[in-house]
Amino acid sequence: MLVTNKALLDAARQGGYAVGAFNINNMEFIQAILSSAAESRSPVIIAVSEGALKYAGFDTLVSMVRVEAEGKNIPVSLHLDHGKDMDVIERCISGGFTSVMIDGSHLSFDENIAVTKEVVDRAGPAGVSVEGELGRLAGIEDNVSVSEQDALFTDPDEAKIFVERTGIDSLAIAVGTSHGAYKFKGEARLAFDRISAIASLVDVPLVLHGASGVNQEHVKLANSFGAEIAGARGVPDEAITEAVKLGISKVNIDTDMRIAFTAYLRKSLDEKKENIDPRKYLGAAREAVGEVVRSKMKLFRSEGKA
Ligand code: G3H
Ligand code: 13P
Ligand code: ZN
Repeated sequence: MLVTNKALLDAARQGGYAVGAFNINNMEFIQAILSSAAESRSPVIIAVSEGALKYAGFDTLVSMVRVEAEGKNIPVSLHLDHGKDMDVIERCISGGFTSVMIDGSHLSFDENIAVTKEVVDRAGPAGVSVEGELGRLAGIEDNVSVSEQDALFTDPDEAKIFVERTGIDSLAIAVGTSHGAYKFKGEARLAFDRISAIASLVDVPLVLHGASGVNQEHVKLANSFGAEIAGARGVPDEAITEAVKLGISKVNIDTDMRIAFTAYLRKSLDEKKENIDPRKYLGAAREAVGEVVRSKMKLFRSEGKA
């Protein structure tokens, strides 16, 4: 049984923990995430990007998620991550998704409100919840200075108006994280004061994108088997704990699973050069993704909440 993000996140906000949203592109990730959630007795959000839908196919992904969620006895939400294309959003609303994100963060404040409200108006009657985003995520790859980055952070007063005018069920905020494996040059810097300020003004659950920790052991392992991932840095676990304490109810993870999958896939291929059975190397990589998910559920304190 699929549930909405709203159901999961309202409970998380109330309970002082966060639900992980984990990105999928294929069967291995779906199985790893849902098996780990079942083992951890944790609610979980399966996040699907427009790129994932293009790669694997809409019906294929939706059916696999449905089949794998069945019988697990945990609440699972199927969520469109970073929706931008109205046709895709429409298809998700009518095609089995229980939640959609409309990412208008690149637009002006007024345009973002208009497009987000349009999605809320379409999703509401279908019982699908909506996540909006205000503020811009920028990492070291975007080459912005510290002061430029601060200007892109979510403004608490604007956040309040944005939520009131759009009627969204959750709000993604920009507080110093960014997507991918290269988040910080020096010290990791998160604007904790902004999380508190926004949480005190806004009455919907808050979402942290770009929250991967970039496990240095996994980076080393991948590199030792031929990868070239240099200078990768993520959000430390302690910062995630603090962010959840201050009011983050949904934490998005993709990069950490990608790195683990890649590291163990490379290891398996390298150590068993005679192997041509994809189940062996994909199985090892799937197990590594499952381990990442279990450790995140502990970190977000959603373990045991299902
Ligand atoms: O934030 C985006 C997710 O990591 C998904 O990335 O658009 O490459 O599928 P993607
Ligand atoms: P990471 O790249 O830090 O895993 O963030 C993923 C994300 O925000 C997906 O929406
Ligand atoms: Zn994101």
